[in-house]
Amino acid sequence: MCTPHTHLLTWVIIICYFMTGPCHCAGSQKKTLCHLQDGRADCSHLSLSAIPPNLPGNITSLDMSHNRLLGILPVSLKPYPGLLHLDVSFNSISKLDPGLCQTLALLQTLNMEHNEVYWLKKEDLSHCTSLTRLNMASNRLKLKGEPFSVLQSLKFLDVSMNNLLSAKLGSQPQLPNLVNLNLAFSGFTTLKNDDFSFLKNSSFLQVLNLSSVSLKTLEPDCFEPISNLRTLILDGSNIGPAVISKLCSELSGTSIDALSLQKMKLGTLMQTIFKGLEGTNLTFLDLSHNGIVKIEESSFQWLFRLQTLILSHNNIKHLTNGTFQGLKSLKKLDMTNALVKSSTSSTPVIDDFSFQTLGALESLMLQRTAGREITEHTFTGLTNLKELDMSWSSYISLKTLTNKTLVSLAGSPLRKLNLTGTAISEINPGSFSVLKNLTILLLDFNYIKQTLTGNEFKGLDQVQELHMAKNYQMVSLSTTSFVYLPNLRVLTLGESLKASALNLDPSPFRPLSNLTYLDLSNNNIANINQNMLEGLMNLKVLKLQHNNLARLWKHANLGGPVLFLKGAQSLMTLRMDNNGLDEIPVEALRGLSNLSELSLSNNLLNSLKDSVFDSLTSLRILRLEKNLITTVRPEVFGIPMRNLSLLIMDKNPFDCTCESILWFVTKLNSTNTTTVPALREQYLCNTPLAYFNQSIMDFETISCKDLTPFQALYILSSTAVMMLLVTALLVRFHGWRIQFYWNILINRILGFSDAKVEEGRDFEYDAYLIHAEEDGSWVERWLVPLENDKCRFCLEDRDSVPGMSQLQSIMDNMRKSRKILFVVTESLLNDPWCRRFKAYHALHQVIEASRDSVVLVFLQDVHDYKLSHSLFLRRGMLRPCCILDWPVHKERVPAFHQKLLIALGMTNRLQEW
Ligand SMILES: *[C@@H]1O[C@H](CO)[C@@H](O)[C@H](O)[C@H]1NC(C)=O
Ligand SMILES: *[C@@H]1O[C@H](CO)[C@@H](O)[C@H](O)[C@H]1NC(C)=O
Ligand SMILES: *[C@@H]1O[C@H](CO)[C@@H](O)[C@H](O)[C@H]1NC(C)=O
Ligand SMILES: *[C@@H]1O[C@H](CO)[C@@H](O)[C@H](O)[C@H]1NC(C)=O
Ligand SMILES: *[C@@H]1O[C@H](CO)[C@@H](O)[C@H](O)[C@H]1NC(C)=O
Ligand SMILES: *[C@@H]1O[C@H](CO)[C@@H](O)[C@H](O)[C@H]1NC(C)=O
Ligand SMILES: *[C@@H]1O[C@H](CO)[C@@H](O)[C@H](O)[C@H]1NC(C)=O
Repeated sequence: MCTPHTHLLTWVIIICYFMTGPCHCAGSQKKTLCHLQDGRADCSHLSLSAIPPNLPGNITSLDMSHNRLLGILPVSLKPYPGLLHLDVSFNSISKLDPGLCQTLALLQTLNMEHNEVYWLKKEDLSHCTSLTRLNMASNRLKLKGEPFSVLQSLKFLDVSMNNLLSAKLGSQPQLPNLVNLNLAFSGFTTLKNDDFSFLKNSSFLQVLNLSSVSLKTLEPDCFEPISNLRTLILDGSNIGPAVISKLCSELSGTSIDALSLQKMKLGTLMQTIFKGLEGTNLTFLDLSHNGIVKIEESSFQWLFRLQTLILSHNNIKHLTNGTFQGLKSLKKLDMTNALVKSSTSSTPVIDDFSFQTLGALESLMLQRTAGREITEHTFTGLTNLKELDMSWSSYISLKTLTNKTLVSLAGSPLRKLNLTGTAISEINPGSFSVLKNLTILLLDFNYIKQTLTGNEFKGLDQVQELHMAKNYQMVSLSTTSFVYLPNLRVLTLGESLKASALNLDPSPFRPLSNLTYLDLSNNNIANINQNMLEGLMNLKVLKLQHNNLARLWKHANLGGPVLFLKGAQSLMTLRMDNNGLDEIPVEALRGLSNLSELSLSNNLLNSLKDSVFDSLTSLRILRLEKNLITTVRPEVFGIPMRNLSLLIMDKNPFDCTCESILWFVTKLNSTNTTTVPALREQYLCNTPLAYFNQSIMDFETISCKDLTPFQALYILSSTAVMMLLVTALLVRFHGWRIQFYWNILINRILGFSDAKVEEGRDFEYDAYLIHAEEDGSWVERWLVPLENDKCRFCLEDRDSVPGMSQLQSIMDNMRKSRKILFVVTESLLNDPWCRRFKAYHALHQVIEASRDSVVLVFLQDVHDYKLSHSLFLRRGMLRPCCILDWPVHKERVPAFHQKLLIALGMTNRLQEW
């Protein structure tokens, strides 16, 4: 029974894990606790049904929103007497407990938005005297008596979305400090003349929000009690022109300053609609999103103090010389998306002199508008216009700019002209020549397709910024392209130039001595002249990313690398990402001591030359991600990485060996001032295999410690081992030969032989041979032939003295022999005669004579133990030269003989071989 359950649970957990995702799980785990910071406790979204009792007692702000509270027990707030802000929005609270404010005597902000509070009585709020903000939006409020009358400090009251059936929140004057009252989405349709009488003493009231209140009737003087009102918001209230008209006249006695009438489906603006506002000081009027198709002549004539008029997102078909009549104070006119052309409607028309009356206008927004054409008089009269934005607009006249197109702006001190995305394809000479005060010209996202001769910009003496990015790489330059822009500081030509545009000498940028920002990115430029930046002493930012400059920096380039940066010694930011660079000449970045940001990501850089970055002493940001860098050595990166604040070098195939990465890893471990994003995840070893795909931070730097002594030791020990090996092999396979020649050498030089040494008595034989009977034939074959007049062996069978007992004869002969030679075989060891007597005697002689008189010749491999057991002899007792092995290989027999003679002290006969 148990097992299936466990399985089920496991599956549920696994499924949950995958549904929520690992990160999510971690997040929700973290969120089981309230988040505490700076005295604020965030307990939102925790499915809590009560206020947590164990938060710090000194919190000043508690967020309980989005939980499952059904009510707030005052006692549950007892632990937090210092609360100033309480947010219990988005719960299911049905009642505001009077004890709440009693417990929280200091409470300033109470947010009960989106609950289910129904009855609200005076007692409920009676202790909330400190409250300055009360949000009761989106409940089901029914007011009983004068619930707000105690809120002496309240500044902000939101009772919107309660479907209140009256604006009258009380009958006695109250809320003396109220500034902002929100009654949006209420259910009343009438404003009675005493509705706001409860605000009679609220002299600070400034903002009234009646959005989406479908007013039908406004009784005379309904705003009279709140005549200090400055802002009225009526967005989304479908009240129709007649009611607006009435509203405006009711506002006439007020201090109304800003009126928002968005989304009211106005359709047509009638001439008299704002007449009531004539006496007011209205400065701001928002009529956006109204579907306005037509504005009757002089509709705004009453608003001569208006400064801002927002007409954006309408559908106006025609502007005439009367449309804006009277708006003589207007400074800003926003007509974004207000003149539109659709497949079903005709292109809007802007009559000549339409803006003539707007003598004070400083900013005209015509973004995303459409119009038939711009004539010589379209903008005439805008004598204070500083900014004209026609971006993403469609005017046929803008396709080909001539010296007539913008001539209507001749009288305007225009500073900024935004012609972004206006489908310009050609700029003729003198097109901007009337814009003497222009400082910023934006021509991005067009289709300019020409060679700039310079005359296009004639007259733009003051222009500081020229933006011509995203012109589909159709622009060509000439050496004079910018001669008329002496003050230019910012020039953007990204994704605009033909690939060949910059191979000019002198450079087109030569006249721009004040240029600080040059963007040449995304142009596929493959060829630039090395003088391109000459004279640009002030250039700070150079963007060359997404070009094709790799060849220029190759040392194999015809005529050497093109060091085009040498003119721009003030550079602070250089971006050369995505250029296919695989080489940086050592001289390329010389002298750029102000450079603080260098970006070379997405290239093919592999091994960088030593000291290539050595001039970059001010570098703060270095980007080298996605290259082929394997090693990060101090010779290259020591100086540039000294003061970095940001390093981005991930996704390189690092080689995790001591030589390649030790310095880098040590550096990363020791720095706390350099930010290295994704260091653990994206900086991976490619080689060696042992570290493949592991973070470089897992590299064991300890294994490289004291590298130099270790290396020496390593070399030493490995040499020793090698020599030993060679020696061993040599000895194993050619030892006999070496020894052979060595002996010859020694004997030739020294003529050494103990045969010559005076030994006090004469020997008849050179050696007495002891061998087993079975080995007799071997002795016959290999030893006897060695005999001659100077070398005689004593063979028991041959040389025993006739008549003498065998024992006596042996002793005698032994005495007459200088050495005793054992031919050691298994048979000898097993021969009792040899074993017992001869050996014993030989041994005796050795000891008595105290000289090396025994020579062992092993015909077989015999264990030392057996040797000592049988002959009372050990190999160790004898000099090595007196122990001989009969060679397996026949060609070694002469060497054996040689050794034998040495052992017998007869080396003076060597000449024989
Ligand atoms: C609140 O009290 C805790 C100790 O209980 C203290 O660490 C913290 O600094 C205090 N916070 C404030 C805002 O006083
Ligand atoms: C409009 O402003 C002027 C001066 O700023 C002031 O004298 C006048 O009282 C204001 N009118 C209204 C209705 O507030
Ligand atoms: C507006 O233009 C009309 C002709 O289209 C002209 O009769 C009228 O005088 C102009 N009004 C003003 C104020 O310039
Ligand atoms: C405008 O350009 C045309 C030729 O393109 C020239 O004849 C005319 O004089 C220019 N007008 C002004 C005001 O420069
Ligand atoms: C120019 O217009 C474009 C497109 O509307 C806008 O993104 C940009 O901010 C404007 N530039 C300036 C300097 O106003
Ligand atoms: C515009 O430029 C002219 C001279 O070219 C100058 O006299 C005038 O003061 C400038 N206007 C503004 C508003 O800067
Ligand atoms: C560059 O700017 C300075 C002021 O920032 C100005 O004095 C100087 O005339 C400008 N250079 C040119 C060539 O216009």
